[in-house]
Amino acid sequence: MLKSPLKQILAIVALIFLLAIATLFAVQSVKEKKDLKDKNVKSSAISLEKARTRNPVLATPQSITAGEKIYKQYCKQCHGDRAIRDSTCVCTATFCPADLRNPHLWKDGEGFVYWTLQEGRKPMPSFRGKLTDRQCWDVVNYLHSLTKEKVTEEEKK
Ligand code: HEC
Repeated sequence: MLKSPLKQILAIVALIFLLAIATLFAVQSVKEKKDLKDKNVKSSAISLEKARTRNPVLATPQSITAGEKIYKQYCKQCHGDRAIRDSTCVCTATFCPADLRNPHLWKDGEGFVYWTLQEGRKPMPSFRGKLTDRQCWDVVNYLHSLTKEKVTEEEKK
């Protein structure tokens, strides 16, 4: 086949060129994934006043268990098995569900999560009318209880 040395050199140059392009694409896609992962809690429409809404439901074991059931039924399909940004989260090219154990999420108050459920957060739907007030606070209690568990960087993969 490639008898002439010129053809051989051309073939090698073409191969190197293709490899370089493939590497470039691979590096780019890894970088994009990482950017998505690093995306922190974004600013949102929930006011500080709303975030400070008092949680009327005590975080009893009953409330936390009820919240866990609701999480599994309504949230897990996007936010993943453990509410952290791991491989079980459903990410699209532009969106990745938030890490619900991120301390920033809780810094202003539990009302922040409650109101996010009420108002929705594109592409996340609003749960007003789908979940009762009580159910929303149960999920809040469940998720807040999770933040007390330590999650290692390794587990987040
Ligand atoms: C259709 C998929 C989907 C479902 C179902 C869903 N979420 Fe989300 N959620 C998302 C996405 C995507 C974001 C990030 C939006 C953004 O980056 O602005 C998000 C953001 C959030 C935020 C805001 C986090 C922040 O960084 O400010 C909270 C709180 C939240 N979700 C809780 C829940 C809870 C609790 C449930 C279940 C009752 C739920 N979500 C169900 C996709 C979903």
